Order: sequence, then structure tokens, then C-alpha cells
Amino acid sequence: MTGTELIPAPRDLLRNDAGYISLHAETGLEAGPGTEGVARWLRATLGAATGLPFPEAPGARGRIVLAIDPILPPEGYRLVVDEFPVLIQGGSAAGVFYGAQTLRQLLDPDAFRRAPVRPGQDWDLPHITIEDSPRFAWRGLMLDVARHFLPKDQILRHLDLMAAHKLNVLHFHLTDDQGWRIEIERYPRLTEVGSWRARTKFGHRASPLWEEKPHGGYYTKDDIREIVAYAAERHISVVPEIDIPGHSQAAIAAYPELGNTDVIDTTSLTVWDTWGINKNVLAPTDNTLRFFEGVFEEVLELFPSTFVHIGGDECAKDQWKESAGAQARIRELGLSDEDELQSWFIRHFGNWLTARGRRLIGWDEILEGGTTEVGLAAGAAVSSWRGYAGGITAARAGHDVVMCPEQQVYLDHRQDGGPDEPVPIGFVRTLEDVFRFEPVPSELTPDEARHVLGTQANVWTEVMEDPARVDYQTYPRLAAFAEVAWSWLPAPAERDFADFERRMTVHYRRLDALGVGYRPPSGPRPWQRRPGVLGRPIEGAPPNV
Ligand code: ACM
Repeated sequence: MTGTELIPAPRDLLRNDAGYISLHAETGLEAGPGTEGVARWLRATLGAATGLPFPEAPGARGRIVLAIDPILPPEGYRLVVDEFPVLIQGGSAAGVFYGAQTLRQLLDPDAFRRAPVRPGQDWDLPHITIEDSPRFAWRGLMLDVARHFLPKDQILRHLDLMAAHKLNVLHFHLTDDQGWRIEIERYPRLTEVGSWRARTKFGHRASPLWEEKPHGGYYTKDDIREIVAYAAERHISVVPEIDIPGHSQAAIAAYPELGNTDVIDTTSLTVWDTWGINKNVLAPTDNTLRFFEGVFEEVLELFPSTFVHIGGDECAKDQWKESAGAQARIRELGLSDEDELQSWFIRHFGNWLTARGRRLIGWDEILEGGTTEVGLAAGAAVSSWRGYAGGITAARAGHDVVMCPEQQVYLDHRQDGGPDEPVPIGFVRTLEDVFRFEPVPSELTPDEARHVLGTQANVWTEVMEDPARVDYQTYPRLAAFAEVAWSWLPAPAERDFADFERRMTVHYRRLDALGVGYRPPSGPRPWQRRPGVLGRPIEGAPPNV
């Protein structure tokens, strides 16, 4: 192995000559001003894997020097391995951090373990010069912890995995019909009631079966503080999502007055136990607005991110059409229909966030009431999920966009057409399909394209009932996605997938060292297969179960 099988691929890589240098117990690690956090991370990570101490004092056998060079792009870095010292210079601490991540990939994949496995192992670095910087500023992963709760340790682990792939935004989908996952002190029932459901639909929503077992969990405020701080140490921003006014049955189950009480008896609602689009949406009342302002006040205290996601997707309008209260509100505000009522609701929170120095981001349905006047608040951004269309409309209207079209980067969709695929829903989206995903649609002019902040892969967990399924669906496709988000790839048809696969042969060993339960190129391992739901064959079930 040459040590140059990097993922995501760097912008420029020059193998200076065929030589190597080796890290030793005496190799020092020197942190220039502003890079102390990266040095802590590198010493802890490489120190654990190699058993080497990386002393701060200049080592007798060379050293690694971290430094900020403001000439470089903010997230860019230069990495030079020739003679000692090894130099990692970044445009900011984030750039130095990405250089340190690349340094780890230049070593044997055992550098990704948490303890040495071969005493006396050589830690060779190839003579190399790398100049690198990301194509996109927003390189995201959305984790849906509402449909199936992921314990905090898993979130910390996913943050480490994201950082290893140079991703920098965790879009944290914290609430949905099936669960409320964040402690809100002024509304304790959100978690007392809203974080547990009595049972869960097995597999696809057309499945005839439920797992008759309670499922739930939530993050305390200290858990969230820890997650946010852990992410920040890895130069990842955590964007919280509180999904309103649809996808809110868990909140309504906890506080029935939030629902359309003039249409249904909301006191009979429980945390939802199946999947799909739910008709039980928030009532557009002052009480609802005040309630969620209270929620967002606590959310803003916990999350320093510029963007706050308010969902806005799949808000069924059936109850608003029937509700005398909602119809009165439409008349009183001079709106023309329920879509505009939704826009009014979203715009309220857009303005509320703007007044607090934050920016709203929502799913592309927030465009349905138009992009002006009653529509989107200035500064609001859009997550384009129903294909590229929403993103194109938003960018043309001057709104920023994160491209995450379902057809390309929804990682709950199956990765192979074969019968053994454990999560047999949706389109077949292979590793190569993700590798050939292009976030910037050709319809946009260069000026409009500047509004594409970047891209994210979305991991919806309806059919991922445990952390192993999340690993399987997410990897290796997230490695291809990271290359799309970071690397300066040519147009999709010109991308060199064979070269990506060549680099992946080493990357799989890194993922093995990290303990990731990815889908192997040859197909699922026996224990990853799902002949029926959760391993049980189902008599008479529809094919998508
Ligand atoms: C979504 O997939 N409902 C955003």
C-alpha cells in the first residue's frame, strides 16, 4: 500500500518521491497558536491507536508541526511530509483539523483503532505534498433520531465518523410524530409522554405487523451540551430540527391543546406507532406560537448554530380545511389558502429567529406559499428534498439552499436490487449512484448557484430499528457522499468510479478498524440480511416489507 488512498480525494496530491518517514516514540507534536484543540485531538486519537506519546517538546526524532496560515482557504490545508518536521498548515483551526484527518489516512488503517494491535508496528508516512480545500461549505449528514432513537454514544460515534470524512454539519432531526427526543424544561410532558411509543410498525408502512414493544428515549440538556461540544471539537456544527407544523403528533400527544381540537378529540392521540404522512398537525393558534417560541428559546440556549431547522415538510392540510379556527385565521390574515397559512406560520418563526441573530432553514414545502410577501422570510434557507426543484426555485429567489434530493441521497433507500437487502424500501441507490450525485443543477446560472451552500445525505430511520442498521445504510455510501461534498469532482459521467473503488479497498479497512457495520461490496453479510421483517419471514406481506 502506498498510503495515498485518500477519501475524500484531495484537490492536489503530489507524491514527492518513493520515500517514507516513520513516526516514533520520540516524535513530537507542536501546536502553533490556535491549533491547540487539533493537537489535543490528534494526540488522543493517534496516541490511542499507536501507543506513541507525541510529546509537546520538540522530539529528538522529529516532530509534527501544526500552524494556521491565513493565506489558505478557511477550511483548506497544506500537508507536507518529506523530512521532519511534518507540516500541517490550515487556513483556520478547521483546515488544520482536516489536514490532521488526512495525516491519519496516510498511515496504516490500524491508525483508526483505539489501541495498538501490533506492538512495535511501523507508522510510515509517504513523502507527499497535499494542497486541499472543500468544494462546499455545508457538508452534512441528517440523522433521524425520532423514528428510532439513537443513544447518545452512537451520536458521538457518528460525529467521529463524520469528521473522518470531513463532513461538518449534523442536521439533528429531533422531533417527529413517532417521538420527541430533546428535554425541554418548561414542557416536561414532551419527553415524559412524547419520547416513548407503545409499539412500532415493522418495516414499511404497508406492513401488517407491529413490534409490540415500547420504544423510546431522549437526550437530556446535558447530553445535548456534550454532543454540541464534542461536535465543535471536530469542527462540526449541529443544526437542530424541531419539525412543525406537521410531523407533530408526539407533541400533541403530550399537550393535546396544540392540536386542532375543533376537528378531533386530541386527548385520544398517542405517540404514533406507524409511518407515513400524519393528518394530526398543529393548530395555527396564538397558543401554539407561544408554546413553540418557548421550545425554541430553550433550543437556542443549547445550540449555537447559525441555522435552526423548523421542518415544515408534509404538513397535511385536511384538519386546517375542516377547522373553524384555522379558517378564521386565514380570513383574519387575508390569506388565500392553507398553503399560505403554513407559510405564515413558518414566516413567524423565521422572523422570530432573525430577531435573535439566527437563520431559519426548512424543507422545501416552506416555499409552497410563495417566496415573497406572505412567503419566506428574508435570509431563510431551504433543504431541497423533493428533487432539485425546490432548490432551484429558492436559489432563483435569492434564498440559500442545501441540496438533499430524495432520489439521490436518502440513505434509507435500498443499495441493491437483490433479495437479501435488509431495508428493501425505495429506489435502488448504489454506491456508484451516490458517487455520481451532482449537488448543483445545471439549470442554475453561476450567480444563482452561489446560493447552493452545499449538500447533505439524509438518514431516515423508520426501517432502521437499531444502530447496526444505521451503519449498514449509511456506509459505505457516506464515503461516496463525502467525496461529492468535499472533492472537486468533474461532471458525473466523467467521474472515475474505478479509482474511487481502488481507494475504497483501503477505506474499508479503516471502517473495519473503526467498527462500522457497512454494507460490503459483495452484498450483506449473513447477519445483515433480512429475509423477512427483523429476520422473520412474513406470510402474505406486501413485497416492500
Ligand atoms: C422529508 O423527507 N419528509 C423531508
